[in-house]
Amino acid sequence: MRPQSLGYIRVSAKELDGWRSFATGLLGLQVVDRSSKTVAFRMDNYAQRILIENDGNTTINTWGWEMEDAASLDAMAAQIEKAGYKVEKSSRALCDERMVKELVATIDPTGNSVEFYHGPTMAADAFVPSRNISGFRTAGIGLGHTVLHTPSVREAIPYYRDVLGFGVSDHFEQPFPACFFHVNTSHHSFALLQGEKDQVHHLMLELFSMDDVGQGYDIALGEEGRVAVTMGRHTGNDVISFYNWSPSGFMVEYGWGAKQIDPATWQPGDRPAGPSYWGHDRNWLGPEMREKAHQMTLQNARDGLRAPVQVLPGNYNEMHGACPWWDANVSGRRQ
Ligand SMILES: [Fe+2]
Repeated sequence: MRPQSLGYIRVSAKELDGWRSFATGLLGLQVVDRSSKTVAFRMDNYAQRILIENDGNTTINTWGWEMEDAASLDAMAAQIEKAGYKVEKSSRALCDERMVKELVATIDPTGNSVEFYHGPTMAADAFVPSRNISGFRTAGIGLGHTVLHTPSVREAIPYYRDVLGFGVSDHFEQPFPACFFHVNTSHHSFALLQGEKDQVHHLMLELFSMDDVGQGYDIALGEEGRVAVTMGRHTGNDVISFYNWSPSGFMVEYGWGAKQIDPATWQPGDRPAGPSYWGHDRNWLGPEMREKAHQMTLQNARDGLRAPVQVLPGNYNEMHGACPWWDANVSGRRQ
């Protein structure tokens, strides 16, 4: 038993104005005002996806994983309890706050609140982005993915794989150990990176259009200290993205073109090329590791490592062969 998707997150903040301007001016989320202490954001037809609470802290402290129905929620709760972890059925008040029908909660080994629910509330009106973007890709894959830093990826894997039932997508050891997990056709909805302490590393949001991401990059470049990782392309999910520092200390990856997988047949493997085909200069890394990651992308350039782009129907024009040389050689080479 595993969840269908990452449905929502709850974020702690020290104030809300920074989140309002970041989420609307750069990311393009829609504000749903809740109270003087909270602000919520929409990104699709769900009534809310991201809930920010001014509680004096800075992190993502709750993950909401969506289950298909009441029966699968019960089965998920039983699976977690059987593994020796406490599961509590949440109050009607908390369900109302999360805008779901039914909810159970557990605590992961590092103290994060992990919630499972079914029956999300859908908005009565259409999503209206706060800046002129095409929108967020969420259908079937959820709000995006989140990544945690943890002192030992190896020790953290069993909880997510065996207790929560996440499928392992792949892993790499260099420039830092990392393991990626899927719960649907998205290559990863969750990942672990090795770091000094347990903390949230980033949240990823996927846009329908590459131009949404590029224009977001232009906005981010105009804000001092906003860009955390330069534009680049990931191996693994093939996403083209950059990362922003959020007002709550973790990063928000803003990307386009994620690969789909078939969870029924997917086989986990190693990614020796590391995290990126190119780009992604990471200012969250120390100088030595940052250089190591950079050297890996230069090696990928020497190796000619590349992959086709992932496109949506109606969002591309197919080019005719660029030249006889390309047409003659395309079948025998990596595209
Ligand atoms: Fe990511």
